[in-house]
Amino acid sequence: MKASIEQQIQADARYGGLSARELESYWMPFSGNRQFKDDPRLIVGAEGCYFRSADGRNILDTLSGLWCASFGHGRTEIADAIAQAARQLDYAPPFQYGHPMAFQLAARIRDLTPNGLDHVFFTNSGSESADTALKMARAYWRMRGQPEKTRLIGRIRGYHGVNVGGTSLGGIVANRTHFGSLVEADHLSATLLPENRFSRGLPEYGAHLADQLEELVGLHDASNIAAVIVEPMSGSAGVIVPPKGYLKRLQEICNKHDILLIFDEVLTGFGRIGAGFGATLFDVTPDIMTLAKNLTNGAVPMGAVVVSGEVYNAFMEGGGPEYVPEFPHGYTYSGHPLACAAGLAAMDVFEHDRMAQRAAEMAPYFEEQIHGLRGLKHVVDIRNLGMAAAIQLEAAPGEPTRRPWDVARACWDRGMYVRQAGDTLQIGPPFIIEREQIDTMCNLLADVIPSVR
Ligand SMILES: Cc1ncc(COP(=O)(O)O)c(C=O)c1O
Repeated sequence: MKASIEQQIQADARYGGLSARELESYWMPFSGNRQFKDDPRLIVGAEGCYFRSADGRNILDTLSGLWCASFGHGRTEIADAIAQAARQLDYAPPFQYGHPMAFQLAARIRDLTPNGLDHVFFTNSGSESADTALKMARAYWRMRGQPEKTRLIGRIRGYHGVNVGGTSLGGIVANRTHFGSLVEADHLSATLLPENRFSRGLPEYGAHLADQLEELVGLHDASNIAAVIVEPMSGSAGVIVPPKGYLKRLQEICNKHDILLIFDEVLTGFGRIGAGFGATLFDVTPDIMTLAKNLTNGAVPMGAVVVSGEVYNAFMEGGGPEYVPEFPHGYTYSGHPLACAAGLAAMDVFEHDRMAQRAAEMAPYFEEQIHGLRGLKHVVDIRNLGMAAAIQLEAAPGEPTRRPWDVARACWDRGMYVRQAGDTLQIGPPFIIEREQIDTMCNLLADVIPSVR
């Protein structure tokens, strides 16, 4: 007699004992749900640079989860801190009340981020950080008596998460088309230029692209523009590294016209590009910085928005009676005790284990090995900065995202998790990765990339 689907699923270790009903119940994010449910890739454990799959294999994690567990999986210091917090204080309301760890973590972040970024607002994700920052920028100008400064400017291929503001200011086409126009926004050009193909680190050419901001100022007048939001290095669109001088120029134009500069450092924050932050590496301190990934090393959802004294004080001075919220915005889980406990422990790891330095030290070897993939069939560009890299593949005719997907799928079968997005493979391993693991990763990619159709 033919086995039922249920029996087939339960006999297959890849399904980790799930029933068909359980599989169908979960609508997975940013996933091909139909494909996954036929061909599951379930993860049941993680330690160091490896995942453990439901069918019992160790899988090399080449993206620190989603760029967020960069200090390595399974940090016991963080797990212990979360467990302790859960026993002592499961929850405290963040509106008009507080708990000490939120203040301690805010001060810690203030100490780590560049001078001038002095006040920290907590969120639960990068998307919430981006939307919070955009609302802050609009409200800031109202507080300053310039309510007409409302226009927001993003960048083509930028990624600021998936909430309404972030989707609108972002510029990855596939993330926008389903939703129609949301918040009105302008976009600067992407800094991805054919002249810069296979650049190692910062490309030489393209700083002039920042001057497009002058054109937008000409078009709208600065009196109508609230803020510009950019990632110092775009991660999700495939590691688009800013040309030398670009960010400085952008800041000069913002300063000249009294436009707030927001750095979305959700991905670059806490060491990814071989420095604490993009702001540190590029010596450009924005007015507002968003953070999320690495803040708890991925262990508990958490994001943060760090602002200058000038931004914070505008709210404090213009906020009306002292008992009234100066910024009517916040989340039930802003500064959740478990997230703060994880954040404090993760910041200990970040500092004591010198994670940004570790990333900077490993980066040259990583760069050398990744660029060794140049010349492989399908590879049309390789970009890198710090411990981030993207390998861009030529689109298969009529199926622009197919090849990276096929590579990622084949790598999983051979014991490696690789993130594909659009026409790129994106590589951002935990900073604790060793040279031999980088070799393993690049050897497998060298084998698999040319083998796909
Ligand atoms: C720069 C940037 N902003 C925002 C986000 C969104 O973060 P989340 O997925 O935590 O909402 C991401 C996520 O990749 C990101 O890279």
